[in-house]
Amino acid sequence: MILITLFAACTNTEKQGAANQVERIPFVENLLAQMTLEEKVGQMAQLTLDVITIGEDETVSDEPIALDMDLVRWAVAEYGVGSILNTANNRARTREKWHTIVSQIQEVAINETRLGIPVLYGIDAIHGTTYTAGATFFPQQIGQAAAFNPELVRRAAEITAYETRASAIPWTFSPVLDMGRDPRFPRMWETFGEDVYLATVLGVEMIKGYEGEDNDVSDPFRVASCAKHYLGYSVPVSGKDRTPALIPEIELRERHLPPFQAGVAAGTHTIMVNSALVNGVPVHASYELLTSVLKEELGFTGLLLTDWWDIENLHTRDRVAASSKEAVKLAINAGIDMAMIPYNLDFCDYLIELVNEGEVPMSRIDDAVRRILNTKYKLGLFDTPVTHYSDYPLFGSEQFIEVAYQFAQESITLLKNEDGILPLSKNARVLVTGPNANSMRALNGGWSYSWQGEKVDEFAQDYSTIIDAIRDKIGTQRVTFREGVRYDNDNHYWVDEAFDIQGAVRAAANVDYIVIVLGENSYAEKPGDLHDLSLSQNQIELARALFQTGKPMILVLNQGRPRIIREIEPYMSAVINAYLPGNYGGPAVSDVIFGDYNPGGKLPFTYPMYANSLVTYDHKPSENQEQMEGVYDYESDFAVQYEFGFGLSYTTFAYSHLRLNRQQLDAGGQLEILVDVENTGSLAGHEVVQLYTSAHFTSVTPDVKRLRRFSKIHLEPGEKKTVAFTLTADDISFINAQNKRVNEAGAYDIIIRDLSSTFNFVK
Ligand code: BGC
Repeated sequence: MILITLFAACTNTEKQGAANQVERIPFVENLLAQMTLEEKVGQMAQLTLDVITIGEDETVSDEPIALDMDLVRWAVAEYGVGSILNTANNRARTREKWHTIVSQIQEVAINETRLGIPVLYGIDAIHGTTYTAGATFFPQQIGQAAAFNPELVRRAAEITAYETRASAIPWTFSPVLDMGRDPRFPRMWETFGEDVYLATVLGVEMIKGYEGEDNDVSDPFRVASCAKHYLGYSVPVSGKDRTPALIPEIELRERHLPPFQAGVAAGTHTIMVNSALVNGVPVHASYELLTSVLKEELGFTGLLLTDWWDIENLHTRDRVAASSKEAVKLAINAGIDMAMIPYNLDFCDYLIELVNEGEVPMSRIDDAVRRILNTKYKLGLFDTPVTHYSDYPLFGSEQFIEVAYQFAQESITLLKNEDGILPLSKNARVLVTGPNANSMRALNGGWSYSWQGEKVDEFAQDYSTIIDAIRDKIGTQRVTFREGVRYDNDNHYWVDEAFDIQGAVRAAANVDYIVIVLGENSYAEKPGDLHDLSLSQNQIELARALFQTGKPMILVLNQGRPRIIREIEPYMSAVINAYLPGNYGGPAVSDVIFGDYNPGGKLPFTYPMYANSLVTYDHKPSENQEQMEGVYDYESDFAVQYEFGFGLSYTTFAYSHLRLNRQQLDAGGQLEILVDVENTGSLAGHEVVQLYTSAHFTSVTPDVKRLRRFSKIHLEPGEKKTVAFTLTADDISFINAQNKRVNEAGAYDIIIRDLSSTFNFVK
């Protein structure tokens, strides 16, 4: 009894604790004080655009799209809906159209409601302003990670913010801070890869790029970011989207929480919740994760948004609520501030009833609405509810394109280059083949002009595919194109068809080299689920058949996740991973193949060799146990195709003279690490200098190594630079068996490429 009372008291104080930290802005407080329950609950609702357009029903809009003003009034004036998201009919729109849509909604919100609160429009501007025709598209996050260039991540996000505001929209559902630790997961390419430090550093840069260094999002060139999908979304047991994850707290805190913690510290204004279950509990219903950890422990004072339909999912899919109304109660009491409903307004009716019945405290509603109104206020929406495209002359400009092109080049990762076969001479005759060779859709991936990327070809006609770019570079007469295998773009866009393998084989007779472009067609979320991580059988057959010709083969991979290539990799003289490089991927790949750009990208994940061995680089030592040679034939080693952090260049780099300023580090101290890197080849190039640490002995088994710092440098031939790093105790801390972050005394190695040095951490 006493225990229960204590717990309840503690929970109440905690609840107040989270709410009390939220900033009190007099303007917002004044509004809040005047609002009715109905008006407050309306602010917490978010609908998708199709609901308020003219069209058959809430999922289909007539084209050309137009708002149905009666429906706008119903949603925005009658219900007081606080937010609208998405495009209509899943299609990109012009800036002019966006301006019309957002203005018409704001006019109703401001002129036809009692308090004139503007609507907060949100969109998935994921790798550029996804749903605006003519916007600048960058590599998807996985490619951005491969560039290991934080400044470029920030710059691309700044440009995206600019072009999103040019589309009259002030809020993007980006960045993804989930960890890309399972290559089966269909959203791996939306992440910054498997390493916690890399994802944390780049996530912060992206947030700062969207929001500005000081997070002043009233600046009309900035947008509010939305870090997602909190927490533990990307590592489901089955590898499939929106399926359960089992993540012990030690692992949640060691590898999944840090990017969000850094995102909160970097001031992200909003966060979106993981659609799935962690340890049996839907995250949307988890008071512990949403309120105790995110709002109280991490001190998140911004707006917490559900993912698509996820309150209703608590009832219909996940069955933790016996009715839709109970689902609303669970989610709001757990800490949700805004519901991406997105098709009807039952949510509002239920929530009003729940408050009146005493099932949801008014203090919770006030806290949620305060967070929402604060966000609107900080975005300057009360002063400037709509930005105008004519104030954004740099939209789609050469200046922006250069950044996207450079980013695509910097992302490309050279994984194999036997006997220096690359770069090829521009006098070479080449066969270009494979289902990804002539596809803007595949270069961009999902979230490109449409959700699944299926409308890319309609909007991206002016850009060059890989085959276009190769023809442009070396002349049409030197290039033969036979696709060999193609995707069924209309129906099962996953499925490819071997329609002309023999044609490709015949065409190879007249060329010096074969450039074979393989991978995946575009996809996003659930439709990208996989039963088998191997590259498709048809593509493997194409590679096999072409190998028989004896012509040297260059494999270009264009894919969102590392599909298994073990069977065909030995046929390849060179392997280039282009990931999902965006609209400038064609020229970037062609620049690398023909030596106009010296590649410097590094893998942001471990490229697996076998579908059953999906182990990340930061594994425990027991993943690689010694084999008893000749006694048993174990398959127990850490066998990977290519390691995390790996990537070749057309030049060579020599590392030497690793030195530490001291052999001992303590809690308040700093360790300075220096290493010399020299370009020993004949071409200028980029190198990503990576610093790892490895603990000798700790109370929980240490990972074999962990990335702690990196620095991307450019060296001319013969040039040598000294690269300096600083580490503190925090950098070698870890989560112990009591789920606490600690430092433990003992020896630690610093590892930079093949050099290492040891220091002691002392308490
Ligand atoms: C995705 C989110 C996205 C949202 C809005 C959901 O299906 O999981 O990442 O932001 O849709 O489009």
